[in-house]
Amino acid sequence: MHILVTGGAGYIGSVVVEELIRQGEQVTVLDNLIQGHRAAVHPQAEFVLGDLAEREALGDLFDNHSFEAVMHFASHLRVGESMEKPFMYLGENVVNSLNLLETMVEHGVYRFILSSTAALFGQPEQMPIDEEEQIVPGSPYGESKFILERTLGWLDQIHGLRYAALRYFNAAGATTERGEDHNPESHLIPLVLQVALGQREQVQIYGSDYVTRDGTCVRDYIHVLDLAQAHILALRALDDGSRVYNLGNGQGFTVREVIEMAQEVTGHPIPAVDAPRRPGDLPTLIASSDKIREELSWQPRYPDLRDIVRSAWNWHRAHPNGYDDV
Ligand code: UFG
Repeated sequence: MHILVTGGAGYIGSVVVEELIRQGEQVTVLDNLIQGHRAAVHPQAEFVLGDLAEREALGDLFDNHSFEAVMHFASHLRVGESMEKPFMYLGENVVNSLNLLETMVEHGVYRFILSSTAALFGQPEQMPIDEEEQIVPGSPYGESKFILERTLGWLDQIHGLRYAALRYFNAAGATTERGEDHNPESHLIPLVLQVALGQREQVQIYGSDYVTRDGTCVRDYIHVLDLAQAHILALRALDDGSRVYNLGNGQGFTVREVIEMAQEVTGHPIPAVDAPRRPGDLPTLIASSDKIREELSWQPRYPDLRDIVRSAWNWHRAHPNGYDDV
């Protein structure tokens, strides 16, 4: 298949591209390189510098290629930032995605994978969270993804566009060549590893008075390669119908437990200080991924937090300045 991957120079997108190419697919990456890194793009993928806000250029891209499917990662991605800049999320995230979807429909491309999120579940009634859980986004970021999921439902009904919405919990870990490098970095595991590398003095713990086993937030960390596998399985199943899946390992770790694990894996002390809660954060987010396990036989290969942190550590040690070193 020839697949367009938006945001294919970003963290998750670049690893999915690596895996698609390893499995013999043809890939074109579209990325504006504001967050993404040119060096993260697999050398066998075609790279197109561009922005989803540019409708005409997007139309030209589709005119000049015969895409059979689109995987859409390009997005603003910070829950906390979305609480400060709602228009960036409810505006750009949504409008850019609609540009992409409309261009797809105009060009008869009807297979789509959406990078969705656990941030849909702002008031979970059950833990772990399965696909039956009520959707109450806890932030404009979550809301933007919910709007897109609902839009996809309409496009399926009206145009027969087949989609999978994959709601990741906390993507983490790295391959040998590709890892997490955001600027500024806001994610727990890379921040903690930067402390281990001596690049930061300490990590702040956002909230230590949550109702959890040690007062800090509980998250379900999933290896980015296991996410990549889920994307490919979902893509291959699309012709049998649209679907949504929650993706995690079904196991939660507190912020303090992640820091302890990173100390063990790296052998370095990681000083941590308590800080106020971060707006938009939920105390606990753990996924039930029974549905994708049953329907698509998805099996995580790296469910162990130790392996996840170790893979991230190996990448950060090899690339202490991220993709600037590549
Ligand atoms: N945290 C800290 N200190 C930090 C950074 C993070 O204590 O310096 C805490 C956060 O409060 C949170 C946990 O560590 O409890 C994980 O935070 P991340 O920023 O790494 O990840 P999030 O859980 O906020 O967000 C991730 C994705 C989002 C997605 C969300 C859904 O980045 O895109 O999971 O759960 F929406």
